[in-house]
Amino acid sequence: GHQWRGVIREYADRLPTLQGAPVVTLGEGGTPLIHAEWLSDYVGADVHVKFEGLNPTGSFKDRGMTTAISMAAKTGAKAVICASTGNTSASAAAYATKAGMTCGVLVPEGKIAMGKLAQAIAHGAQLLQVDGNFDDCLTLARKLAEAYPIELVNSVNPARIEGQKTAAFEVIDVLGDAPDIHCLPVGNAGNITAYWKGYRESAALPTESDGRASKTPRMWGFQAAGAAPIVLGHPVDEPDTIATAIRIGNPASWTQALAARDESSGLIDAVTDEQILRAHHLISSKEGIFVEPGSAASIAGLLMMHERGEIPSGATVVCTVTGHGLKDPDWALRDSSGRPVQPTKVPVDAVTAARALGLE
Ligand code: F0G
Repeated sequence: GHQWRGVIREYADRLPTLQGAPVVTLGEGGTPLIHAEWLSDYVGADVHVKFEGLNPTGSFKDRGMTTAISMAAKTGAKAVICASTGNTSASAAAYATKAGMTCGVLVPEGKIAMGKLAQAIAHGAQLLQVDGNFDDCLTLARKLAEAYPIELVNSVNPARIEGQKTAAFEVIDVLGDAPDIHCLPVGNAGNITAYWKGYRESAALPTESDGRASKTPRMWGFQAAGAAPIVLGHPVDEPDTIATAIRIGNPASWTQALAARDESSGLIDAVTDEQILRAHHLISSKEGIFVEPGSAASIAGLLMMHERGEIPSGATVVCTVTGHGLKDPDWALRDSSGRPVQPTKVPVDAVTAARALGLE
């Protein structure tokens, strides 16, 4: 039989730097591009959701971790390290284990979702909770990688961007061309950099070749309002948002994110936590897609742009939702006013159950 072989093997010809490296894979990529009927109707465009929560560790990071860990294996690395708001650490821990390497992770204490913490521990990472935010963790990780024999697998590692660009290839493979607009959450800004690289490379392929796009999309990136350095034009010392995945005040790929924005005639804007939670609720309750709050920033941005009348009617729009809802499920268990949702209790009795379901 046939199964998806992971992004390195599926896109071998478009990942030249990976040639000759051992392939460390958990079968990442090949995630569904889901046509979003409710969102399409609502915003008057053709909206598709790239559901990256369906990667092996539940986020898009796996695309870049298969490549980063494979490159590390090629150089004989025995240990890797990363700073993380949670997903990178979960992914690094899993792929390092797969490769027989040790993995150190630096996370901001008290600011990463429970599911992600559990993953890093389950995969045997050496977890250090740092008394600081993500930006402090990244500074620390860089210092350790410079001074000790340990490979840095944050998105400042070029192999990460190479792997993550394959998501743009997959979008083009499904739609037959690039979309008009691509919406993404922005944190450390590696992913918007990677998508833009993937789209540019696809548009630069020779005419008639497989996977060629006739155009590049406008890149629309969305930061959380309390952690929006790129929007503000300066670093944010104490970033704050309920979307812990993107709680970042000084993105490593800032310059590349500006290039993606400007070269694509796109934008990078901010969405509030209220907008994020509304989008989080809508995409799960209207589309059947469960994401973590940080991922809902792309949907929140789409809705905001619709409210501003900025979405051309009938445009093809792709929104990437970056991580699975099970990573951080607490947000689904509260109603819009923040109160806990109470399940209805019933005895073992069909009539009572039927009444509770509104069937009687
Ligand atoms: N969405 C999720 C679910 C993330 O975990 C991240 C980043 C982003 C979006 C933003 O992507 O950083 O490439 O702009 N998470 C990193 C981490 C920082 O440590 O897991 P970006």
